[in-house]
Amino acid sequence: MGWIEFGPDDVTTARIAVLAEQIAHHSHLYYNEAAPEISDAEFDALWDELKSLDSEHPQLRRVGAPVSPGSVKVEHRFPMRSLDKATSDDEIAHFVSETTAHGRRFVAQPKLDGSALSLEYRRGRLVRAATRGSGERGEDVTSNALRIPNIPDCLSWKGDCHIRGEVVMHLDVFREKYADIAPNPRNLAAGSLRQKKIDAGKGDASDLAFHAYDVLFIPNDEKHPDSPDALHFENDSESIEWLREMGITPAEEVVVEGTDDESTIAALLGETKRWTQGRDSAAWEIDGVVFKLDHLEKRELLGQTAHHPRWALAWKFPPEEATTVLLDIDWQTGRTGAVTPVARVAPVVVSGVTVENTTLHNVGEVERLGISIGDKVRLVRRGDVIPKIIESMGAANTSDLEGRFHADGEQFVNELPTRAPPQIPTECPECDTKLGLDGAFLRCSNLSCPARLSRSILYWCRALEMDGIGEKLVEQLCEANLVNSIPDIYRLTTEQLQSLDRMAEKSASNVMNQLDGTRKISLDTFLSALGLPGIGPELATAFAGEICNIDALIGLSDDDLERLVAIEGVGDTVARSLMTGISDRVEMVTDFSEILTITSVTKTESPAGPLIGLSFCITGTLNRPRKEIALTIKAAGGKVVSTVSGKLDYLIAGENAGSKLDKAKRLDVIILTESDLKSMLD
Ligand code: IVH
Repeated sequence: MGWIEFGPDDVTTARIAVLAEQIAHHSHLYYNEAAPEISDAEFDALWDELKSLDSEHPQLRRVGAPVSPGSVKVEHRFPMRSLDKATSDDEIAHFVSETTAHGRRFVAQPKLDGSALSLEYRRGRLVRAATRGSGERGEDVTSNALRIPNIPDCLSWKGDCHIRGEVVMHLDVFREKYADIAPNPRNLAAGSLRQKKIDAGKGDASDLAFHAYDVLFIPNDEKHPDSPDALHFENDSESIEWLREMGITPAEEVVVEGTDDESTIAALLGETKRWTQGRDSAAWEIDGVVFKLDHLEKRELLGQTAHHPRWALAWKFPPEEATTVLLDIDWQTGRTGAVTPVARVAPVVVSGVTVENTTLHNVGEVERLGISIGDKVRLVRRGDVIPKIIESMGAANTSDLEGRFHADGEQFVNELPTRAPPQIPTECPECDTKLGLDGAFLRCSNLSCPARLSRSILYWCRALEMDGIGEKLVEQLCEANLVNSIPDIYRLTTEQLQSLDRMAEKSASNVMNQLDGTRKISLDTFLSALGLPGIGPELATAFAGEICNIDALIGLSDDDLERLVAIEGVGDTVARSLMTGISDRVEMVTDFSEILTITSVTKTESPAGPLIGLSFCITGTLNRPRKEIALTIKAAGGKVVSTVSGKLDYLIAGENAGSKLDKAKRLDVIILTESDLKSMLD
């Protein structure tokens, strides 16, 4: 008789699994059902033991049963009110005189232009995160909030409180990853927070940051019996300091104070000026300054209207508009082949910045605006990252060009261009390849297009953090014909680099060192740095976890579509983007596989569940949205495919199912109703 030997590691692994399962079960009873079966102390003991065995265990970041973001409403324990708004100096003076009986000290913070979020901590643990919604009721977005890196799931103070703040996206991240897909960081933050399924192409909560501006403590008669008493601070500035100690990032704050009305008003106006000047160097989009009375008891005395508290005021930057003249439109080819129109305008100052170029996004936008070269145009900056041309005001006059200066102070001298409709290119401005229309975008399909090449090299270098290789150097390398593809950069010699203008020995060896440092990379890093259209870093990692090694990546074929689509967050379109992206570049990828060491990654375990190994196709009119049914199937380990074949296990057919149902019957595929599926899952 043989014996199975268990080592200490197996025992620990088994214990971790048991603990995780128990915590999941009891969290569900506690947080979702409000019917705990064990005491809090017993629950804490399970938690602490799991933490001691595996401090990174995902169960420690889970709260009860997962709730699909946006599907559950949350009643706010403390309503999330709006703020009274001001745009003029007079309104600030009025606010000061109205509050003056209660103090002259205010907390001033930037008004962050993102998406409001309320975090509910019970016994120091994050149990729920909700959007503002109507102010009375928001949506549960806990699972996405937990992906925001600076939101702690535990506080060192083990009590009950609600922490409010704004979820924002760093402008650099927005510009680098999302400027093509969302009009501004605010929309992206709101979308990423509420999205049901992580889709890196639409924004990912892990790219967001939370900045707190308020904490409210649950009164002692309502708090959890094991929680410490509610904390009381005299001033808001102290509660902000406490938040900082708890590992929460507060919105940047300063305390402003005056000795009389006049000096207080001057201090507040000083802050509005400081932020107006600092607006462009802020890492986040901000749309004004919030002033709040610092003394918390005095806030209580002032109270609130149904709409806003009387102790706070949001001073908003005035909408920045300006008019200028459209001088020309240049067309630029980017890394993915998209040909973007760039408007050249007579220099104009918008929010303290001189604008001479602004993007018109795509050919669709040019047509929508119906602008002509030589038109007087209106530019606006509302909180958007880049000022936008919003309308044409008809033909410009010579006087519209008068008194204009470049950013360096030099006088702008130019003649009014002859009025003419924009010339939409039919060929790539760089390589003359015939352009195709892809939605609202014009696209160059030539992978060796010099513009696409230099931008792809830059993207590669930035992704691998080779900051010694910048725009200038890439341009020089391409012009000198030293590189004709991305892998060519790994064939460069020190001598070749030194032959370039302004390239000293030290810089050349720095570049060589950086290149050497990236000769060995893992498949996910490789795929991410390739920068295939529509495949950002998160998707690249997800694909690499399924494809595992470089040979399999090169050998991708239509047969792989099904397993790619089965990856969490991957749909048919994205999977096809990867396949075409690779097959279009198969020579380059093969070249890379020879010149670099691309290490394999371990396969991402597919989720376990009752539907593991089974394939489903969905058709007809169903009670729940198809997407939601597909998600349920995937969450239970099943695969969802879009076509009926002999290999398909089940067809879920709703009302008015058509050809798919007929085909499934012909091929003897088992047909299920929605409730059959539910029974399988139960
Ligand atoms: S204090 C009683 N501080 O502005 C309301 N709000 O228009 C307390 N906001 O929904 C809010 N930055 O989401 C406060 N530093 C800041 C803020 C801020 C942005 C948002 C907040 C609120 C909206 C009100």
